[in-house]
Amino acid sequence: MPGYLYLKTFGCQMNEYDSTRMGDVLREACGLERIDDPERADVVLLNTCSVREKAEEKVYSHLGRYAELKARRPGLLIGVGGCVASQEGEGILARAPYVDVVFGPQTLHRLPALLDAVRQGGRPQVDVSFPENEKFDLLPRAQASAATAFVSIMEGCSKYCSFCVVPYTRGEETSRPFAQVLDEVQALAAAGVREVTLLGQNVNAYDGPLADGESADLALLLEHVATVPGIERIRFTTSHPVDFGERLTEAYGRIPKLVSHLHLPVQSGSDRILAAMKRRYTVLEYKQKIRRLRAVRPGIAVSSDFIVGFPGESDRDFEATLDLIAAIGFDQSFSFIYSRRPGTPAASLPDEVPLAVKEERLRILQERIDAQAQQHSRALVGTVARVLVERAARRGGRQLAGRTECGRWLNFDGPAALIGGFADVTVTEALANSLRGRLTGSTAPVDTSAGRAA
Ligand code: SAM
Ligand code: F3S
Repeated sequence: MPGYLYLKTFGCQMNEYDSTRMGDVLREACGLERIDDPERADVVLLNTCSVREKAEEKVYSHLGRYAELKARRPGLLIGVGGCVASQEGEGILARAPYVDVVFGPQTLHRLPALLDAVRQGGRPQVDVSFPENEKFDLLPRAQASAATAFVSIMEGCSKYCSFCVVPYTRGEETSRPFAQVLDEVQALAAAGVREVTLLGQNVNAYDGPLADGESADLALLLEHVATVPGIERIRFTTSHPVDFGERLTEAYGRIPKLVSHLHLPVQSGSDRILAAMKRRYTVLEYKQKIRRLRAVRPGIAVSSDFIVGFPGESDRDFEATLDLIAAIGFDQSFSFIYSRRPGTPAASLPDEVPLAVKEERLRILQERIDAQAQQHSRALVGTVARVLVERAARRGGRQLAGRTECGRWLNFDGPAALIGGFADVTVTEALANSLRGRLTGSTAPVDTSAGRAA
C-alpha cells in the first residue's frame, strides 16, 4: 500500500542512521515515500533516544500532537522506535494508547510485518527484542544520496558505564560481518560516495566475523575500506578509550585516508569520577593514548564528550576536567549535565550537586571548549583546506559548503558542478560556527551516470 511516511528522529548519529534504514525498509517493502510533513503522512514514526531525560519528555509531547492528527485521520498509524521504546515497551501503550507499533533498535527491519499485523488485526504490536544481527542480514542496502554516508559496523555496547542506558536499550556489542561491511562500502562508493563514517556505539571494539572463522578488528577493517576505489575519506564514531589500542594508533600512520580528527569521549578529567563512572581508564592513560596518536599523526584534532555534575563531583573534580581540556586542547565537543537514568548503577547514588552548580559548570566548560575551538579555526586562516563539497551553502547564490577533515563547514564561491567532489580552499575567515574561503583547486565528482547502484 503506497503512501507517505513521516519520520522524526531524536538523539545520536546512530539513531539518524537507523531512521534512514527505517525509511529504506518501508520504501522497499511497502512503497512508502518519506515526506517532511506529518499532516500528509499515512505512517508517523518517532525514533527515540533515552540517553538523557529531556529526550523522553519530548517524545511524549510529540506523541500528543500525533494523537490529535489521528483523531482527525483515524487511518493514521503511529509507531515508536529507538531506545525509549526499547526501555518502556508496553509502557508506551499504557501512556499513549493511540500508538500502534512499538519497536526497538534491533527490530526495525520487522516494521513492515508489524504494520501489516496492525492493519489486519487492529491491535497494537510490540517487539523490542534483540535478535542477534538479524537486522544487518535483512535490511535493504542503504541508498546513497550524497557524497557522504554512514555505515553501521556494530551494534550495542558492553561497557556498562555506570550512568548509561545504552547497553540495556541496544543490547551487548555485536559486530557486523567483515564482508558485509565491505560490500556495502563498495556499493556506496560505486554510487558516488567519497567519505564513509563507520558507525557504532563503540566501533573500536569491532570484532567482525571473517569467512574463515577468524575475526577482524577495526584497524584491519579500516585498511580494507581504504582500498575501496572512490573512497577518499574515512571517519569512525564513537570510540571508547579502553579499546583504543596500539593497532588503531598505528593505523593512523599507515592510512592517510583516515581523517585527522578523532572523537574520543573522556567524560571527566578526575580519576575519582572516572572510577565511579566505571570508565576503566585513568586520566594519565587517556593522555598517553592521545600523546602516542599525535606522535603518529601530528596535528590531529581531538574532540570529546563530557558529563558535568556526576553524583559526588566536587569543585576539585571539575577543575581537573578543565585542566584536562587545556592539556589536550580539545576541539569542538559535546557536553551534558548528568541525567539520572533509572535502571543504571549510578541511579542509586545520591545526586547532591545542586542544579545551579551543574548548570554553571556546564557553562564554564562550554566556554573553554568554544574558546579552544575558535583558536583551532583561527589557526586554519591562511592555510589551504581540502573539503568534500556536500551542498550549496544555506545562503544560496553561488556559495558552496564543504567539510574540512576536522568537521568544520567551509563556505566558498564555486560552481554547483563541484558538489560531490573535493576542493582545495584557502581559508580566509574564521566565524563562530563555520569558515569562509576562496576556491584554489578542485577534483570533479565521480561520474555515477552508469547507475546509482547501492
Ligand atoms: N560510546 C560512547 C563512549 O565511549 O562514551 C558514548 C555513547 S553515549 C550514547 C553518548 C554520550 O552521551 C556519552 O559519551 C555521554 O557523554 C552522554 N551520556 C550518556 N549517558 C548520560 C547520562 N546519563 N547523563 C548525561 N550524559 C550522558
Ligand atoms: Fe554508554 Fe559507556 Fe557504552 S557511555 S554507550 S555504556 S561506552
